[in-house]
Amino acid sequence: MSSEPTRHLDWDALYREGTPTWETGAASPELVRLVEEGVITRGTVLEIGCGTGADAIYLVKKGFEVTAVDSAPTAIERARVRAENEDALPRLLLADVFEFAPTAGQFDFVYDRGFYHYIRQFELDRYLDTLWRVTRPGSWYLTLAGAPRTAGEGGPPQVTSRQLYNELGRLFEMVRLDQCRLTSPYAEKGYPGWSCFMQRPVLGK
Ligand SMILES: C[S@@+](CC[C@H](N)C(=O)[O-])C[C@H]1O[C@@H](n2cnc3c(N)ncnc32)[C@H](O)[C@@H]1O
Repeated sequence: MSSEPTRHLDWDALYREGTPTWETGAASPELVRLVEEGVITRGTVLEIGCGTGADAIYLVKKGFEVTAVDSAPTAIERARVRAENEDALPRLLLADVFEFAPTAGQFDFVYDRGFYHYIRQFELDRYLDTLWRVTRPGSWYLTLAGAPRTAGEGGPPQVTSRQLYNELGRLFEMVRLDQCRLTSPYAEKGYPGWSCFMQRPVLGK
């Protein structure tokens, strides 16, 4: 998770070359917490930038109907193998989410870990348009994003709470904004992060 803003990252190369800094092979503790607490309960899920699928597979095991999209072939192939080994099969799609979204339909819950905090640096409006298309009034959105940290410390792209409200608040209402640690195999304590859980407003409510 480089903090250098680079628009044309070769994501697949990061997977081919080994284990990327965000790749733990386990479901994200913040996602697990929201599901175990019963905060997220409804059926269809779209995971954007699913990587090697640990979160998508976890959600399938919890009874969600999961579509998981990633544009890196190596990541999707690893996700397929993981899903078969764990006998929990999300709908895994090798696709650019910007091309997929216009015909994807709407989901009850849209989730990304590490995609919003990256793409907002280059194509925020396009991503907001995508989130708009894949949600409906009442849909939930969860992003796990990097939070500000001490200068010079490595880690993922950083987002302030003000940016979360200003940017994602154009579409969604904040339900819960929690500080968390973003897990990484290269940082024992993880990196400072946000668990930003939002809902698209229902008119008249
Ligand atoms: C920081 S990684 C996070 C992966 C995974 N969510 C995790 O936490 O392990 C971002 C992911 O977004 C994927 N990605 C980047 N651009 C994409 C796009 N336009 N459409 C779909 N996936 C994309 C990358 O291949 C990468 O797997």
